[in-house]
This record gives sequence, structure tokens and C-alpha cells, in this order.
Amino acid sequence: MSDDARPPDPSLLLAVESSCDETGIALIQDGRRILSNVVASQTALHAATGGIVPEVAARAHLRWIVPVLDQALSDAGATLDDVDAVAVTYGPGLAGSLLVGINFAKTLAWVHDKPLVGVNHLEGHLYAAWLRDADGTGPVEPVFPLVALIVSGGHTFLVEMRDHLTYRLLGQTVDDAAGEAFDKVGRLLGLPYPGGPAVSRSAEAATRHDADFPRAWLGETYDFSFSGLKTAARRTIDEARRDAGLPVGAGAGTEPEARLPDAMTAELAWGFQDSVVDVLVAKTMRAAEATGARSIVLGGGVAANTALRARLAIEAEALGLPLIVPRPALCTDNGAMIGAAGARRFAAGERASLALDARPSLPLALPAVAGRR
Ligand code: KG4
Ligand code: ZN
Repeated sequence: MSDDARPPDPSLLLAVESSCDETGIALIQDGRRILSNVVASQTALHAATGGIVPEVAARAHLRWIVPVLDQALSDAGATLDDVDAVAVTYGPGLAGSLLVGINFAKTLAWVHDKPLVGVNHLEGHLYAAWLRDADGTGPVEPVFPLVALIVSGGHTFLVEMRDHLTYRLLGQTVDDAAGEAFDKVGRLLGLPYPGGPAVSRSAEAATRHDADFPRAWLGETYDFSFSGLKTAARRTIDEARRDAGLPVGAGAGTEPEARLPDAMTAELAWGFQDSVVDVLVAKTMRAAEATGARSIVLGGGVAANTALRARLAIEAEALGLPLIVPRPALCTDNGAMIGAAGARRFAAGERASLALDARPSLPLALPAVAGRR
């Protein structure tokens, strides 16, 4: 498309995210400035079951989506009349959760006669790197070609971007996502739900750094695997619990008296986290060097992890490459990241019809633009 034919960025975009367990609505100006970004988290709701029950998540979106919209409009000092377009996540994610956001966005678009844009959730995690605060402050601009590592509760992959909206998948997890592994190990350690932030907090308190867990390098590929690490963690934790005279296995309880001593929990959490971070960082850096990347982007919920952010920052600096990591609240699911990606799609001329449907298994890179090495 020539520059003349290219529609301008929508000056005010309303973005809706409901793919998993956060109801997020944001107002984004000029494609990247966050005027408001309201997230209703269902963490407390799912803590009771120690994980997400899809129907419970969908019903919670239904309960919260209107108050979240009201708050987002009020925070931005805007009305629906001011909005130029509506963007919404249509996959990947939980079908029931996606349908709530999609139907809500469609209704807004239809009633208020606004164009609708469908957004891939994973593209949202990537485009969080371009977001800025309302006053224009934010991280440095990502430069192409770049390598991006996206690590979330459902996905773990490395992509190369040589331009906007084009992706070459370099590698992905062959089993669990990194966040999923954090959550499972958190549960094994008896830490509160969700496991990721709890494991990370516990690891930071570790005074001994001796725990040694395996690393899955998978040869020369850029793929990841976390199931072996998870099994090793389970074995080590069970052994330590048996030695401490504590019951072993599921349902052992999260009360402090049912847990290993804090110092031991911290050492095991650190050992597990160190293994994950080692592999993620090594593969990202190798990919950056091999593809001649000029910057590195990190995104997804696990990018909120302090150790991962710190280690990647050190390695990127050693190579002289800028690392762009959104602040933690923009790494976990939110509407602003959907707005950043949606604005790009809108500017590229994309419009969704009112027949837009949920795509629970939507891949990031569609075959036309993607290819494994
Ligand atoms: O991107 P996200 O909010 O949702 C998905 O799209 O999946 O990621 C959620 C995941 C969860 O597995 C959560 O435990 C993990 O990100 N997570 C973390 C941290 N904060 C969130 N994992 C490790 N360290 C953290 N600080
Ligand atoms: Zn996500």
C-alpha cells in the first residue's frame, strides 16, 4: 500500500481484551499513547480453585466489562462519540472469555457506527513495546530488524520482525509455556496462586544459590521445553518434603505449616527460576546475533519477572543492543497492548466484519508471512 493510500492512525482507539482472566479496556491516542488502561483481574476469584475454570472466567468478564468500560472512559475524559475505532482480541484464548469481549466490542461498533478491528492477543503482547504514557514517556523505540521473546501463561516463542506486522517464527515451546511451568512449580511449593509472581518473590529472598535444575537446550534449535524441568522440580520438592516429614503430592496445602521452611522454598524457587531464565536468555541472545537484530523486545506475563528482565538487560547491553521491556503492568494482559496492535492493523487498512468470531487457537504468524527456519 502506498503512503497516500494508507489511512492515518486512529486518533482515539478503544481496545478490549478478555482472552483469559483479565477484563481490560484502554483508550489509546495516536496509536500508542495510553489515555486510560483499566484491568479487572480475576486472580482472587481463581485462587479458590488454584487455576482458571473457563466458565467462571467468562461469567466474570460478563460481570465486569461494563464497569471497566465506564472507568476507562472516565479516566480518559472521553465519551464513546470521541472514539474513532474499536479493537478487540479475537484469539488465541479461552473461547467463552473471548466471546464476551468480542460481542461487547461488536455491539459498541454497531451501535455507535465505528469501524471494528480484530487483534491477535500475541501481537498485542509484542506491540506493548511501542506503548507510551499519556505524556509521551516510555522506553526507547524498537528498531528493526528485531528479535522478540514472548513468554506468557499460554505461550512461549521467539520471533524475528523485520518490519511492522510481519513475523518469522524462530522457535516455540514444544510442551508447557514458561508461565505455566512457573504456576505449576508454585503449586508444588505450596505458594499462593498465581505461582509466577509468588515463585519470583520467593526466589528473590533466597540466600543460598545451590539448587541445580536441568536445562533443556534442545540442540541448536530455538525451541523450548519445560516439562523435564517441571518433573525434576517435582522430584526434588517431593524428596525435600519427605525428608521434612511433610505429606507429598497434590492437596498438600498452602498454609505455612504445610510448606517447606521458607529458606528451602526460596532456594528451590531460585533454582527453578534460574534454569528457566538461563535457557530463555541464551536462546534469545543467540537468535539476536544470528539474525543481525538491532534491538530486542521482551513481552508477556513472565516478562514481569525481575530476574529475567535483569539478566536479559545485562546480556543485551554486552552486545550493544537496546532491550525494550514494557513495565510489568503492560507485560501482563491488558487492553492497552491490544490498542497498540489494533492501531497498527487499522492503519494498515484492516477492518473486521460484524461476523467476527473467536479463534481460540489463532497462531501469531499466519502462513503467508511466517515460516519455520
Ligand atoms: O501474559 P499473561 O498475563 O497471560 C497470558 O496471556 O497467558 O501471563 C500470565 C503468566 C502466568 O503464568 C503468571 O504466573 C506469569 O505470567 N507471571 C510471572 C510473573 N508475573 C506473571 N511469571 C514469573 N514471574 C513473574 N513476576
Ligand atoms: Zn497474555
